[in-house]
Amino acid sequence: MLENCPIIKNECIGGDYYRIVFKAPEICPKVKPGQFVHVQIANLRDRILRRPFSICDATAKGELTVIYKVIGEGTAVLSKLAKGTECSLMGPQGKPFNVPKKNQLPIIVAGGYGSAATYMLAKQSPTKGRILIGARTSSDLILVDEFKRTGFEVLVATEDGSEGKKGFVTKLLDEIIKDPPSKSMSFYGCGPHGMLMAMGRILLKNTLSGELSLDHLMCCGIGACYACVVKVKDETKTDGWRFARTCKEGPVFPATAIYYE
Ligand SMILES: Cc1cc2nc3c(=O)[nH]c(=O)nc-3n(C[C@H](O)[C@H](O)[C@H](O)COP(=O)(O)OP(=O)(O)OC[C@H]3O[C@@H](n4cnc5c(N)ncnc54)[C@H](O)[C@@H]3O)c2cc1C
Ligand code: FES
Repeated sequence: MLENCPIIKNECIGGDYYRIVFKAPEICPKVKPGQFVHVQIANLRDRILRRPFSICDATAKGELTVIYKVIGEGTAVLSKLAKGTECSLMGPQGKPFNVPKKNQLPIIVAGGYGSAATYMLAKQSPTKGRILIGARTSSDLILVDEFKRTGFEVLVATEDGSEGKKGFVTKLLDEIIKDPPSKSMSFYGCGPHGMLMAMGRILLKNTLSGELSLDHLMCCGIGACYACVVKVKDETKTDGWRFARTCKEGPVFPATAIYYE
């Protein structure tokens, strides 16, 4: 679905991270946790190529929130857009996370904007579990208080040790697996590629199931161009693998389906 959405708010929330809220009354009711919107950034020189952003929140009032990091031209232009400017949003796109069942304790592992991509999952989860948030340094930690308000326990790891555990967030995951808080846990991950590869390997080694959001570079966002393919398991193929489009069959994949290079 395409919707022209005026900006309600666009503000820096710390470091290079911004929160933008769009009025999107048509898209909002359809959003499921882990899906994304493909945004045509107003005022960008090359507006044909949209930019994908995970939907952090979508309310009954029709307000759709995205948390984004300024990393290149598109996000820099986005960060300067004023209240009232309209952007064309395409979405909700992609395959969502499966919300955990009542008897499952959700364990979310998030790095970078991964906490934004998993926030709706935490809100909708019938059981409040734990979120492990990783960042380079404390100023890159986002949505810590928002997650606490959902009822999730928040554990933090920073690479420079400025807050929480020093090191990669997967250290916290190792600790949970060594001393499990529940017999039935469901794992979810979104973050940098290296973090997801490490997380997936830990899950497989311990025969635990989980879902990982692979946010690959995208172009069309609708399954037409094959710019976003990743290798996934397919037992019907002679070598056991095929290429899947992350915009269509993902971004969320079962950890067991992913190719770990
Ligand atoms: C499904 C999905 C959900 C996403 N959700 C979010 C989100 O919630 N918040 C957020 O801040 N970002 C998110 N991203 C990444 C976001 O799309 C890119 O940061 C954005 O498109 C960069 O645009 P730009 O014009 O500023 O940078 P560009 O000038 O296009 O790129 C700058 C640099 O960043 C690299 N880059 C661009 N896109 C990606 C990407 N997807 N992954 C890794 N490197 C990339 C480029 O290779 C280049 O080196 C998501 C991406 C996907 C595919
Ligand atoms: S971005 Fe074109 S097929 Fe996925």
